[in-house]
Order: sequence, then C-alpha cells, then structure tokens
Amino acid sequence: MFRLAKPEDVAGIFAVLEEVAPKIPLCLDGDERKELIAQLIRDCCQSRASWIAVNNDGRIVGFQLTRPSFAGRRFTVWGAPQVAGLMLEYGGVSKTSENQGIFRTLIEKTKRRKRPLYATVKAKNKSAMALRLINMGFENFESDEGRENAYFRWQPKSQKN
Ligand SMILES: CC(C)(COP(=O)(O)OP(=O)(O)OC[C@H]1O[C@@H](n2cnc3c(N)ncnc32)[C@H](O)[C@@H]1OP(=O)(O)O)[C@@H](O)C(=O)NCCC(=O)NCCS
Repeated sequence: MFRLAKPEDVAGIFAVLEEVAPKIPLCLDGDERKELIAQLIRDCCQSRASWIAVNNDGRIVGFQLTRPSFAGRRFTVWGAPQVAGLMLEYGGVSKTSENQGIFRTLIEKTKRRKRPLYATVKAKNKSAMALRLINMGFENFESDEGRENAYFRWQPKSQKN
C-alpha cells in the first residue's frame, strides 16, 4: 500500500534509511548527524509531498522524502535560476522489498503533483540512481565542480520548453 507520509512515520522511515544509507551513501555516525537527518525526515513528513510504501504487516518498506524547493516562484541553484518545485531528498526501499517496482511507484505518485522535481545524486551512489532517474524521464542538467554530485530535474509536460 502506498500513502503520504505523516509525522508518526518518522521512526519507520528512519529505520529504512539506516538500512539503505551505505548505498546512497549517507553517513549516519554520531548523534549530531542522526538528529540532522531526523529533522529532515520530520520536515518531509509534514510537507504532504513525501510518499511511503507499507507492507501487509503495516511496516514501512519504502519511502521518498520530498519537500518544496523554495517558497518563491524562482530560485537559483546549481548555477541557474530554476522554477520552484519539489526537492527529492532521500529515497529508499528495504532489501526484502526491492525490485517490485516500489521506488518507481513512489516517484510516479510524486510526479502527479505536476511540479518540477529536483534531485541530487552522489557519484558514489551504489544503486545506479542516476540511470534510474534518466529512465524515469529526468534530465541530468548539471554536476558540481568536483563531480561528486549530479543534479537532475524532471518537468511536467506543460512546463517543458
Ligand atoms: C534504488 C532503490 C530505491 C530501488 O528501489 P526498488 O523499489 O527496488 O526499485 P524498482 O523496483 O522500482 O526499480 C524500477 C526500475 O529500475 C530498474 N533497475 C533495476 N536495477 C537497475 C540498475 N542497476 N540500473 C538501472 N535500472 C535498474 C528495474 O528494471 C525497473 O525498471 P522498470 O520499472 O522499467 O521495469 C533501492 O535499491 C534502494 O533503496 N537503494 C539504496 C538507496 C538509494 O540509493 N537511494 C537513492 C539516493 S537518495
């Protein structure tokens, strides 16, 4: 079952994020980092834009954390002005539920808001996330100078040039 994340989902999402963190890769060592990420999850659970997948036992097995990119209509990021939209933060699916189309569905649900979507993928990602996003209609429009991060954007059809 798929549904929007709610504030009470924070712990369940954190558990899956901890499991997939090495593949992102994301370091969760130390209380300070953990608290920073917990705060991000709390923000995203309040945004009414983050989707989760729940299995038959009611356990969260997948999530896509999402929040508005900025309040204004345009913002400058990655060297160019962008139309405000939704920022895809961390996403993940528990090992036991992989390869069932869960992540694809989480992204499809997010696309239905018909807002531009932005995502950052680390060069060291171990899940071929860059390729997956391209296969889901995203474009790689920028990378940072050190090429540690690649930036992706998806635009609803009506907003494409
Ligand atoms: C990446 C991840 C979210 C995928 O979740 P998932 O639910 O297993 O993904 P799906 O089942 O929806 O896969 C969808 C598609 O990816 C394709 N795919 C599978 N392995 C792939 C690979 N190595 N490269 C590219 N595409 C691949 C599948 O064929 C499928 O294609 P289709 O929908 O056209 O049939 C999961 O492996 C994960 O949590 N990884 C670690 C966390 C991470 O890297 N997050 C992203 C950065 S925040």
